[in-house]
Amino acid sequence: MSAGADRNVTARVAEPFGHGKVILLGEHAVVYDQPALAAGLSRGLAAVAMPGTGRLTVPAWQLDVNARDASSPVARAYAAILTALAATDLDVTVQAELPARAGLGSSAAFAISIARAVAQARGVEADLAGVLAAATEAEKIFHGTPSGIDLAAAASGDVGRFERASGWRAIPVLQPMTLCVGLSGRPRDTHAQVAAVRRLRERTPGVRAVIETMGALVTEGERALGRGDVDELGRLFDVAHGLLAALRVSTAELEALVHGARDAGAVGAKLTGAGGGGAVIALAPGHERDVLRRWSEAGFQGFVTTIGSGGAAKAMASS
Ligand code: MEV
Repeated sequence: MSAGADRNVTARVAEPFGHGKVILLGEHAVVYDQPALAAGLSRGLAAVAMPGTGRLTVPAWQLDVNARDASSPVARAYAAILTALAATDLDVTVQAELPARAGLGSSAAFAISIARAVAQARGVEADLAGVLAAATEAEKIFHGTPSGIDLAAAASGDVGRFERASGWRAIPVLQPMTLCVGLSGRPRDTHAQVAAVRRLRERTPGVRAVIETMGALVTEGERALGRGDVDELGRLFDVAHGLLAALRVSTAELEALVHGARDAGAVGAKLTGAGGGGAVIALAPGHERDVLRRWSEAGFQGFVTTIGSGGAAKAMASS
């Protein structure tokens, strides 16, 4: 996380939970100091820490490592959190409701839930900024140069606007909106996608204008959320997806999901997160079941969630 990412965070450490997230607008551009909009999911990861030997288990991911195992990135990430919070002797068990590497912020939820559990177990009076700082050390191991948006959304669970310089700000949403989330089934690799966009931006100066336009869409999206304008937000999703495809982070599966959603009645659809795999989101008022059915017929799983309902988004249904 950038130094500014936790600047305006003052809340105390809450339960040891990290929310999954979807990025509504601005992924990749946010790495280059543009704003982005994200929403937390009610699904996430819950961690429990107790005295032990540095063992970390995530049964749903068939993961069982020790913080001393330097050959495992997950173990190194866990060790980084323990070090940041001055803890060495804890065993942590994580219950995961999110698939790993599906584009729904699992690694950030993982880092936040563990940092919260470790802080709690140590009785450390850490505020959220301390938890974010520890989780950032883990995210750097997974993603290299994260902007901090995933961690901020994982910690918050609400709808918010994020900028590297000013951090996370919860934003008003006139009325809850229902989102369809489609899973490509191909794991995303945020580190590789961010590096690929960086190379493209360095080689092709015109890409900078694309990134600035993506930032401008965020401000329009914030206004659309504030007045409950689903149709406008959908149009912004479509434009943003086109720009993300221009950055070459879309894939055949993501295109199939986006076009399937539009054919089934969505007013807008886009990939969410780093791309190269992972997930898409679609706004399809009144046609959510049609979208899920279309995805299912094409061999993709999906679910419906609500954003902007006051707390974390509520998962409503799965297919
Ligand atoms: C990944 O969820 C979002 C990216 O913008 C990377 C980042 O902001 O760290 C692709």
